[in-house]
Amino acid sequence: MAARSQQLAAALLSLLCGVSCFPLGQETKQTLTCGYESCHATKPNMLNVHLVPHTHDDVGWLKTVDQYYYGDRNDIQHAGVQYILDSVVDQLLKNPDRRFIYVETAFFYRWWKQQSSSMQQTVKQLVNEGRLEFVNGGWCMSDEATTHYSAVIDQMTMGLRFLNETFGPCGRPRVAWHIDPFGHAREHASMFAQMGYDGFFFGRLDYQDRARRMVKREQELLWRASNSLTPPMADLFTGILPNGYNPPEGFCWDQSCDDPPIRDDPDLEDYNVDDVVKRFLTIANSQAMVYKTNHIIMTMGSDFQYENANLWYKNLDKLIRYVNGQQANGSKVNVLYSTPSCYLQELHRANLTWALKTDDFFPYADDAHDFWTGYFTSRPALKRYERISNSNLQTCNQLEILGGPVSRKGPFGDGESQTMKKAMAVAQHHDAVSGTEKQHVANDYARRLANGWQHCQVLVSNSLTALSGSSAKRIYCDNLNISVCPLTESSKKFSVNVYNPLARPVAWPVRLPVNGTSYVVSDAEGKSVDCQVVPVSTSTRDVRRNRGFAVNELLFQVQAPPLGFTTYSVSLLQDGPPPASTQHRTPTAIQNKFIRVTFDPDTGLLSSLSNLETKQTIKLTQNFYWYNASDGNNKESNQPSGAYIFRPNSSTPFIISKTAKTESIQTPVVQEVRQWFAPWVSQVVRLYGDSRALELEWTVGPLPIDDDLGKEVITRLDTSIKTSEYFYTDSNGREMLQRKKDFRPTWNLSQSEPIAGNYYPINSRAFIKDDVDQLTVVTDRSQGGGSLQNGSLEIMLHRRLLYDDVRGVGEPLNESSGVFPEGLVVRGCLRLSLDRPPSAADAHRPLAQQVVLQPLLTFTDGDLHPNTQLEFSGLQAALPPAVHLLTLTQWDKDSVLLRLEHQFQSQESKVNSHPVTVNLQKLFSTLEVLGVSELNLSANQWKDDMTRFHWTPQTDEKPLLKTFRDSSVWEVTLRPMEIRTFLLRVSFR
Ligand SMILES: *[C@@H]1O[C@H](CO)[C@@H](O)[C@H](O)[C@H]1NC(C)=O
Ligand SMILES: *[C@@H]1O[C@H](CO)[C@@H](O)[C@H](O)[C@H]1NC(C)=O
Ligand SMILES: [Zn+2]
Repeated sequence: MAARSQQLAAALLSLLCGVSCFPLGQETKQTLTCGYESCHATKPNMLNVHLVPHTHDDVGWLKTVDQYYYGDRNDIQHAGVQYILDSVVDQLLKNPDRRFIYVETAFFYRWWKQQSSSMQQTVKQLVNEGRLEFVNGGWCMSDEATTHYSAVIDQMTMGLRFLNETFGPCGRPRVAWHIDPFGHAREHASMFAQMGYDGFFFGRLDYQDRARRMVKREQELLWRASNSLTPPMADLFTGILPNGYNPPEGFCWDQSCDDPPIRDDPDLEDYNVDDVVKRFLTIANSQAMVYKTNHIIMTMGSDFQYENANLWYKNLDKLIRYVNGQQANGSKVNVLYSTPSCYLQELHRANLTWALKTDDFFPYADDAHDFWTGYFTSRPALKRYERISNSNLQTCNQLEILGGPVSRKGPFGDGESQTMKKAMAVAQHHDAVSGTEKQHVANDYARRLANGWQHCQVLVSNSLTALSGSSAKRIYCDNLNISVCPLTESSKKFSVNVYNPLARPVAWPVRLPVNGTSYVVSDAEGKSVDCQVVPVSTSTRDVRRNRGFAVNELLFQVQAPPLGFTTYSVSLLQDGPPPASTQHRTPTAIQNKFIRVTFDPDTGLLSSLSNLETKQTIKLTQNFYWYNASDGNNKESNQPSGAYIFRPNSSTPFIISKTAKTESIQTPVVQEVRQWFAPWVSQVVRLYGDSRALELEWTVGPLPIDDDLGKEVITRLDTSIKTSEYFYTDSNGREMLQRKKDFRPTWNLSQSEPIAGNYYPINSRAFIKDDVDQLTVVTDRSQGGGSLQNGSLEIMLHRRLLYDDVRGVGEPLNESSGVFPEGLVVRGCLRLSLDRPPSAADAHRPLAQQVVLQPLLTFTDGDLHPNTQLEFSGLQAALPPAVHLLTLTQWDKDSVLLRLEHQFQSQESKVNSHPVTVNLQKLFSTLEVLGVSELNLSANQWKDDMTRFHWTPQTDEKPLLKTFRDSSVWEVTLRPMEIRTFLLRVSFR
């Protein structure tokens, strides 16, 4: 009560003298009443309705992030975030009871930088009093299906760090808020729990699931989001909002809405207070029927609302006054301004038990024929570019530290990695990497990533110069996937620096475009290594066109040290005609010492796969198919396939070709069977000399659309594995989830889309298995996939569609090849490994990490200076196989942020699913670790300060409340699937 009247006095003062004379310099005296303490009182014997004023500001969708910020291009969509924040702050000052939440730090940060210091003080006061509250607080509200956990943790860390540094503890969000993403990943829930959030709210889930939860009052639940982490580490209280994130029907008072305002002067026309109150009470009472407590939440806002916040607040003030006025007449409904955390606090106080959930919320359908499973694959080139950009950013971050302060000198000033960090953070938004934005916005995301990489290249070059002692100009070749690199195409002598961002050594195949026919390649010790020259394939020439002129490719395998580099030098021996040509007959088999694959000589298709070490063999055929996209004109529904939705018009895909024309190359370094299916589909089946995985490098596009039907191209692996309708996909690149055809673990599914309703996001891998065989497919980007027949696994590779799917984007997904007018051509790689089920993770975990964080090649022309240091490792020794170095990045002048991760699930591996201990002082070769503090996962709270609400599940398997202690501050133990975050104070040795 006392706190309340203080607030009132402060607000009155601000009302009287406006913003400019708001008392400054009071920070020392201020009593902080933010967070749970700033919540309005509720009434225990009434139904309390929490009104949450909010705006949903997409970090790019129909307009670019900057266009949204400024309110540019209002012809596309009326939306201007700067005006929203201006207007909301103004309106909050007018009445201390009012509340507002803000979510997307990418926007708030832009706005904050432009404010005067007195405005910044005013806003700080609002935050300190809990009148303006941050929820979620990452740079953006990430997509959950197509994002990799590494990039999600980074973008959350960036946003939350800004909030902490700007506002201190009152800026720390208590609640995660994913009101718009199109389905929800279990790994996201696990991460949010480890970031210290007390609860999580979202808006979208399958319509059947919602219907069931409404009946059973299970729209609020406890999500146990990990099979490996000890409860309650990954437990997250989860609330499903009543109406997506919109206000109840008839109560939208934004300038973009048409609902009637509250007309409360009886002397004027159309007095409607009685009607408004009655409608409101009806809605509130019926909403209360489907939730458990005497508290309900209403989201009063929507996309880009509150640009003229007066409209909303004026009517909300009146709504509260008139509805609560009825309490004098016996009404038992109490309305209040609130926030998600104030609502959550009341749920927590209710001290109930909550339904326990252990699966995820994919796929999402909002109607019987409307499965949002297309975006798992939409914009496959952007999805790959985002993934490789993450790899490059991690390398950039690591080298910034390993190379020391000189790394940061450059034309862009200090903080060369910031641009790339921001570009990656923006790309995690639920309309960015998801592929659900307009074309011009997709181009903007890609441009930002390219620009970020330009900045990082300066840093990487500086760092490599410092570490190698060679100042030779470094050349980057980002188009090796289509055999383009001007330096290697023309140079007679050059060297290749291979930087490995993983904390263990890797072997990696290198493939360089060249024009000579024989080369000598030597490693850092001067020993020559096996290499091979092979002709550039026709399909690569077709994609490359006139962007490069190499006729051959030089192949060799590199071995790179952990968190470090090695250098190979390449000299031309002989120019001349292409090497002995390829064979045009399909070989019956290709094999190395680990793997053997056979081909059907009649069709040219794969016919079997063997693991020669474990002596297992499966039948395996693989081919390409397409689904015709529905065009929205059939009987049950007129929903077409589009950027979000996958809706084939038949459950039987069309085969692109029953046979493949083949040619093959068999050398000691590599064996390839190049398969050609159609002018727009080809593949290379590739086996390197000492690889344990088989590569399927697919090239798909431009998809023909002259039949006026959009196409969605898949590849399907049909095997002899007895899958009994199960298959497995990863969640955001981490834990594996079991999937079953036409089945959901938590409700009795009525299946209405036999293909699209069985698609799931594949982030980095999927597998099928029976008791003896497990086939794992590691992808190089996020894709959608399913298992629709026994033994089969299909993965969608590319989509080209001619209709908009009416979810707002307003464009068909019809990408072209940039400078060329035809449809987009996409190339990617699936890596297959066949193992025994109990130990398969030992193979696919490291394989997937290698694809996510792949070596970076840089080139220098000519001879290297003899004093050049050719090899370097930033580690004293490789980390144990179970430990992944997830983050190593500069934090401030003297400290670095380190995340170590146990990359195995419990019971997944006989050898690796055990706790492992790492000594932080014995990690780095060039850094001395002087001090260490542990943080929560998002690095915005000290681990020891992290206390979360405790929630009780209905079905209590009593959690094993084992407490684990490290043996010393330096010796840290990681348990399966655990990520630990440390701030290390360091100095250079
Ligand atoms: C919550 O409920 C439990 C069991 O019903 C009870 O033991 C406990 O005292 C309650 N806690 C509070 C704060 O009311
Ligand atoms: C939060 O920000 C403050 C002020 O900059 C800083 O002192 C504190 O260390 C930060 N907390 C964390 C956990 O980083
Ligand atoms: Zn959105």
